[in-house]
Amino acid sequence: MKKINVTQSLLPKLDDYIKEIETVWDSHHLTSKGSKHEELESKLKTLLDVKCASLFVNGHLALEAVLEAYDLKGEIITTAFTFPSTTHAIVRQGCTPVFADIKLDDYTLDPIDVERKITDKTVAILPVHVLGHVCDVKAFEQLAQKYNLKLIYDAAHVFGVKVNHTGIGQYGDASMFSMNATKVFNTIEGGLITYKDESLSKKLELIKYYGMESSEDITYIGSNLKMNEFQAAMGLCNLPLLDHEIELRKKNCEVYLDELKGLSSITLPHFLDHIDYNYIYFPILINKPYSRDDVYNQLKVKGINAKKYFYPLVTDYACYRGVYPSDLPHSREVADKVLCLPLYGNLSLDELMFIVHELKNALV
Ligand SMILES: Cc1ncc(COP(=O)(O)O)c(C=O)c1O
Repeated sequence: MKKINVTQSLLPKLDDYIKEIETVWDSHHLTSKGSKHEELESKLKTLLDVKCASLFVNGHLALEAVLEAYDLKGEIITTAFTFPSTTHAIVRQGCTPVFADIKLDDYTLDPIDVERKITDKTVAILPVHVLGHVCDVKAFEQLAQKYNLKLIYDAAHVFGVKVNHTGIGQYGDASMFSMNATKVFNTIEGGLITYKDESLSKKLELIKYYGMESSEDITYIGSNLKMNEFQAAMGLCNLPLLDHEIELRKKNCEVYLDELKGLSSITLPHFLDHIDYNYIYFPILINKPYSRDDVYNQLKVKGINAKKYFYPLVTDYACYRGVYPSDLPHSREVADKVLCLPLYGNLSLDELMFIVHELKNALV
């Protein structure tokens, strides 16, 4: 039985990748600000429509780096409906996560609940543009200004997304984009911090390069978080494929929306006109009396690997259970009902129709 996974990594033609890395071979410059790294960083700034951007070895460490760069100490308000990385970054940087609830229409952090949770210990808000949905960027901007808080987005899922024709990385003080193999655009593993304040550059560089101002002048206890040339070369090869990949994903979403509309047993995602999405995921909710887990298992038996994304809530992980208050009814409801259907450019119409058919079978 052929398996259909929730996603499939975007890959260039092998020959194109080999051609791209020929110059790396010739130069013997494999890492540390090689020409591929510099070229990719510059191209991503233009593509994402941002003033400042810094590449990292992966998204998680990029997020840790930006929290470290701002020297945040205190409470950071965030969501429990996310990947462990978001919370781990906060905790590993010595801050305390405070969980606010999400909105039921798009699963992003609810600014009203965030405001309720602000205390004199709050230093930042860290919302997640979750599953490709865009947070209420205006409301968060206002909150950050009103309470003088840093606003840092986990933008792992929204590479290339625009809001009112503006790159999503322009919102907030900084955003972290993930470019790992499962994302719409990948550098195999990779992360990018986009930020507003140019003066942050130096600190980010120190954190990324062992705290070295120069080989003999080490001024900061930094780490090693740099992207290597092979990752950057993959990014350069994948960049020209991105628009087409997004177009194909959009078409596939439209098939799902068309074929699944009107079913009361599920809630479909909705897409807003002023946002250019990247169609990274197709999350549906399985409504009662149907059980998400039953549907998930029935699809799995047929070779369809949908994903319970995100389940369980971060606050229910063994490492966090009982540690932080978590009265989050909306987050819990969505985590219990959510199922991401397979979505990627290469998914054929036959495969889509098979998924739709099996999903409907599971909902009788
Ligand atoms: C919401 C979210 N934040 C952070 C990360 C971490 O990114 P990376 O895998 O590039 O380290 C991921 C990874 O999938 C994610 O989904």
